[in-house]
Amino acid sequence: MATRIRTFEEYRAEYERSVKDPEGFWAEQAETFVWRKKWDKVLEWDQFEGPKVDWFKNGKLNISENCLDRHLETRGDKPAIIWEPNEPNEEAVTLTYKQLHAKVCEFANVLEAKGVKKGDRVCLYMPMIPELAIACLACARIGAVHSVVFAGFSSTALADRINDAQAKVVVTSDGNFRGAKNIAVKAVVDQAVANCDCVDTVIVSQRTGIDIEMVDGRDFWWHEEVSKVSDKHEAVEVDSEDMLFILYTSGSTGTPKGVVHTTGGYMVYTDYTFRNAFQYEENDVYWCTADIGWITGHSYIIYGPLLAGATSLMFEGVPTYPDAGRFWEVCEKHKVNIFYTAPTAIRALMAYGTEFVEKYDLSSIKALGSVGEPINEEAWEWYHKNIGAGKCPIVDTYWQTETAGFLIAPLAGITKEKPAHATLPMPGIQLAIMDNEGNEIEGNDVEGNLCIKFPWPSILRTTYGDHERCKNTYFSTYPNKYFTGDGCRRDEDGYYRITGRVDDVINVSGHRMGTAEVENAINEHPNVVESAVVGFPHEIKGQGIYAYVICDAKPENEEAFRAEVLKIITKEIGPIAKPDKIQVVSGLPKTRSGKIMRRILRKVAEGDATNMGDTSTLLDPSIVDEIIEGALVPVKQ
Ligand code: WT7
Repeated sequence: MATRIRTFEEYRAEYERSVKDPEGFWAEQAETFVWRKKWDKVLEWDQFEGPKVDWFKNGKLNISENCLDRHLETRGDKPAIIWEPNEPNEEAVTLTYKQLHAKVCEFANVLEAKGVKKGDRVCLYMPMIPELAIACLACARIGAVHSVVFAGFSSTALADRINDAQAKVVVTSDGNFRGAKNIAVKAVVDQAVANCDCVDTVIVSQRTGIDIEMVDGRDFWWHEEVSKVSDKHEAVEVDSEDMLFILYTSGSTGTPKGVVHTTGGYMVYTDYTFRNAFQYEENDVYWCTADIGWITGHSYIIYGPLLAGATSLMFEGVPTYPDAGRFWEVCEKHKVNIFYTAPTAIRALMAYGTEFVEKYDLSSIKALGSVGEPINEEAWEWYHKNIGAGKCPIVDTYWQTETAGFLIAPLAGITKEKPAHATLPMPGIQLAIMDNEGNEIEGNDVEGNLCIKFPWPSILRTTYGDHERCKNTYFSTYPNKYFTGDGCRRDEDGYYRITGRVDDVINVSGHRMGTAEVENAINEHPNVVESAVVGFPHEIKGQGIYAYVICDAKPENEEAFRAEVLKIITKEIGPIAKPDKIQVVSGLPKTRSGKIMRRILRKVAEGDATNMGDTSTLLDPSIVDEIIEGALVPVKQ
């Protein structure tokens, strides 16, 4: 295993070196991997715009070989993945590095037999079963590009993503055991694929045994196909800058964008950040509770941990099934040493009280992690005291789908934490806090918009099929800088605290949602003329969704109308995008130029109309009173 930072002084020194000599620094990190051909140049970039960034230029490698083959000699019999099923009484599955390697090779052979070639896109729409991780690694092994779509998305959302990526193969399962539910997964794929001409093959992993339809010549069972092929496969050589995956994420506009990550830089950065932030030791059992459908699962269930030769636990179920002790039961059962979850899960479990925690022996845990949104102090303290026995470090990791790896995070046990602060940048991450005029704000005790002013190895390379969009979204607000979309404070000690999104993106239970996306779905209702969606503080979810809707004809039964809107959203996006509140209004607060003043809508949704600011530029200021009057929350005036 590569060396890792051991002390705070080492962190300071390593950070400084990563800024003074980024190429030397990252070359050293990259040395520990298997390269079929070494790079000519560590980093090439002209202007930090667009971006046009090459890491490990002309290097040739395969990331699946680095995750698996590289470890076979030294860690062949070590568990690579421990899979814990939804039901506590179903047996867990352990795949050693050797076994995982064999399964990945088999499935790589299946994909090749189905005609998948280097550069082709494969869409994975699957529950949290080992086959999902196997399918990702098999794609990587043959140089195909995976596009994992979270299995909670609707068939419409899935079809959009399949078509955007022009995927020729979809891998799925028959059903999904999730909590008390048995969800039909293949049926969603059938509906989606009916609108996707690009798809010629669907491979189905059997999980729940529900009846499904199999289309002759298009659909194949996973278990039948793997039984026909060998479990040996020579990994395909790819270029360091060849695409590894596409992952769709929401932004300020109505259509999700396909964030593109490439191979070499992603490999080096996810491995480095995983080992250093969590201070992973050789025999630790590490558990990240995220879904592989999000970036957290890509980078810190699959790639980061396996590159580091770690044991990564994968969980099929939910935190509250069969009861609110499930997480802690699993921690005890598998002697989890490092536990990584989201603030929304912590808050949800807090509400059930500590009796569900006290039943279990959590003494194996030595480090905790948090991701997805700022962790509020109360949740931090609860987590620290009850799960971490008051002594485990909490690694609050701030990052994004686009960054693919941690940007700001304490190193477990090394960086002194401060609740609700992501603390300090990872080596290689050069942060800048910007004011609205485009100037960098220097010094401590300051606040502004968070940017990064130098490329790091796992920065997004483009948004699939639309490079202009990538340029406009991330590199145009502040020339020559990557803009995160987040507000940030640098406190008197130089610690960073993320204050939340400054764009039209909301964060619901750690899931990123574009307000425009939700509005587009609402507007599909025949009686809706216009809508405006904002986020509001929500005790468990972090942010809830509040929708203001103008109707053509005032609905006779508002309850029924709301139910119809929710149904449309479930169909267009998925249940995760359902608003908590839908208020029917006769108008929206608009400026004379027609721009909706969302600030006002946010204030009302927050239940505080005391400080509305200047409303004199509104076309019709009286609409504000009507909105306050009809608000679905008590509003302080
Ligand atoms: C947005 C990115 C990173 C993987 C999961 C979400 C927010 C994420 C933190 C944190 C404060 C955080 C930011 C960011 N965020 N982690 N530790 N502290 N905010 O990935 O869907 O790409 O969302 O999540 O607002 O921009 P994502």
